[in-house]
Amino acid sequence: MSDEDKGKETSSSSSSSPATPPSASPPPSSYFVGKRDDIVKARRVTMFVNGRDILVVYHQGVFHAMDMRCYHSGGPLENGDIEEFNGRLCIVCPWHKYKITLAEGEALYQAVDPAQKPPKPQWLSKGVKQRIHTVSDINGDIFVTFNNIPGSIESDFYQTEKFRATLGKTDKKTRK
Ligand code: FES
Repeated sequence: MSDEDKGKETSSSSSSSPATPPSASPPPSSYFVGKRDDIVKARRVTMFVNGRDILVVYHQGVFHAMDMRCYHSGGPLENGDIEEFNGRLCIVCPWHKYKITLAEGEALYQAVDPAQKPPKPQWLSKGVKQRIHTVSDINGDIFVTFNNIPGSIESDFYQTEKFRATLGKTDKKTRK
């Protein structure tokens, strides 16, 4: 598939995930986001696909995709470090250092139980806050299928026209 096809929706009927063997055709309703080799080389790509800003990350041999802007306040996750916390790989938002698991979009934080002597910080989860999408590798072409779990996930707000309008105004002010 060529670069001109990026972001185009597919309509075929088989599916795959990073953990499954390559399949011959892309999953239904998935979007071509680039060539495997190009994304591996770049490590991260951002793209506007069918109304969503997404980030695709290649890390330790696995592709991950998620909403590009952080659920907390819209920070640019493409600039976040990837680190392991409590055995889980997270992207760390560059703005306020919130930690988001790459696999599930859960927000992790540390808390101390004052009743515990001596108090020891523990990693806890705030639940899924970032919408994570599915990546498929079809013979070297990378496709993203949106996670359409019903109901709102906090990162959804930063995919709205309302937010983009705000961002546009902020950009104009910054450029002055
Ligand atoms: S915007 Fe990401 S941590 Fe605040």
